Amino acid sequence: MAFKSVLSLLLIASATFARPTPAADNHADHAHAGRSLFDAYGVSDWAHPADHPVNALSVDRLATTSPLAQPKDALTKAVAAGQIPTVPLSNEGNDPHGVDPNDPTVCNSTSECKVDGDIWNAPDGMLGLNFDDGPTDASPRLYDYLKNNTQKATLFYIGGNIRDLPQHALTAFQNGNDLAVHTWTHRWSTSLSNEEFMAEIGWTCQIIADVTGGRVPRYWRPPYGDSDLRTRAIAKIFGLTQVDWNQDTDDWEIPEGKNTESAVAKMFQKWLTGPKSPGLIILEHELADSTVDAFINAYPLMKSNGWDTRSIPDLFGAGYYQNAEDNTSPVVTPLDPVNGGATSIDLNAADATSSAAAAAASTGAQSNTKNGAKALSTSGFLLAFAMGFAVLAL
Ligand SMILES: *[C@@H]1O[C@H](CO)[C@@H](O)[C@H](O)[C@H]1NC(C)=O
Ligand SMILES: *[C@@H]1O[C@H](CO)[C@@H](O)[C@H](O)[C@H]1NC(C)=O
Ligand SMILES: [Zn+2]
Repeated sequence: MAFKSVLSLLLIASATFARPTPAADNHADHAHAGRSLFDAYGVSDWAHPADHPVNALSVDRLATTSPLAQPKDALTKAVAAGQIPTVPLSNEGNDPHGVDPNDPTVCNSTSECKVDGDIWNAPDGMLGLNFDDGPTDASPRLYDYLKNNTQKATLFYIGGNIRDLPQHALTAFQNGNDLAVHTWTHRWSTSLSNEEFMAEIGWTCQIIADVTGGRVPRYWRPPYGDSDLRTRAIAKIFGLTQVDWNQDTDDWEIPEGKNTESAVAKMFQKWLTGPKSPGLIILEHELADSTVDAFINAYPLMKSNGWDTRSIPDLFGAGYYQNAEDNTSPVVTPLDPVNGGATSIDLNAADATSSAAAAAASTGAQSNTKNGAKALSTSGFLLAFAMGFAVLAL
């Protein structure tokens, strides 16, 4: 559906339903204020102040190669063009009072409300391998195992974890895996203001570009699956496609003692010996040795049951990055989020028809505190940018 139709849909919808006052109005009153990325970074806006030391490191590169040179402008422009829907902010995992997550003006993917362009399923017979929340200390063994099996996967990375463990991210990249976005601090996306959410994905795109020689990720996955029409639209400014899943291992509960490797193995057994249509996108995590084990134990079963295991882009013959086919092919023109991204937004209307049934089989919320909010530090950004230079200088 063209963007104009979405607009009129929104207009009709807002006339039809009484909409609660957006929580954004009182957002500054409560506890989130001290946790904003901007506060942590010590600035009041997206852009670095002109005299910030980071500019000495990065100004030339930002001006010439960064995919994110003017993201704030892109957001302003998209808001002005009516391309960013207003949805009441949630409160870290609680639906805003009176808001139906399956309402077509909200379409919350935690309730499995789908929008055209989201990825939920793999093509028949294929299994999209993907791991969330890395890099972590458990990652090297996973990457080694994948490499030993000449297998590639999509890694939905937490930006703050890349900052902390850049060497693991580099190894994953050098092994040919697809690096994708899982936000910087793993918060509930629908609880964040436009600017906070933009910072969460923008900086994660940036640090991935830094470790991959300027490659701009193609995919993002919302933490907890929590995304609505507003966050999807902001992600589109960066050209990101949302990837969800159609089976959930709950492997993240193993290190918390709430699940076991054998229970997860049973789930794998059921899915892998089940129907091949649609193909599988199974939610897995590279959180801990036990979650990596859960995958390593299941992989032979994927193969023996004839599954064609691929990274997410390889399911669809897509490039790994928006500006590069993969990790070795050259980087083509850097993106222009102001003039390219924002104008190319074509947010399709929510397909709310199938979602009511899906909501009944809700995926459940993930209370994954290990990867909860991590404060950003200036030195982290300096490291990120310095590392970008190191990689680009290779
Ligand atoms: C989306 O759904 C999740 C899970 O129910 C909830 O925590 C979040 O608040 C919802 N967001 C919106 C905007 O409805
Ligand atoms: C990968 O293969 C090497 C060489 O055979 C082996 O030493 C290593 O243990 C393997 N890694 C994993 C995680 O299986
Ligand atoms: Zn996660």
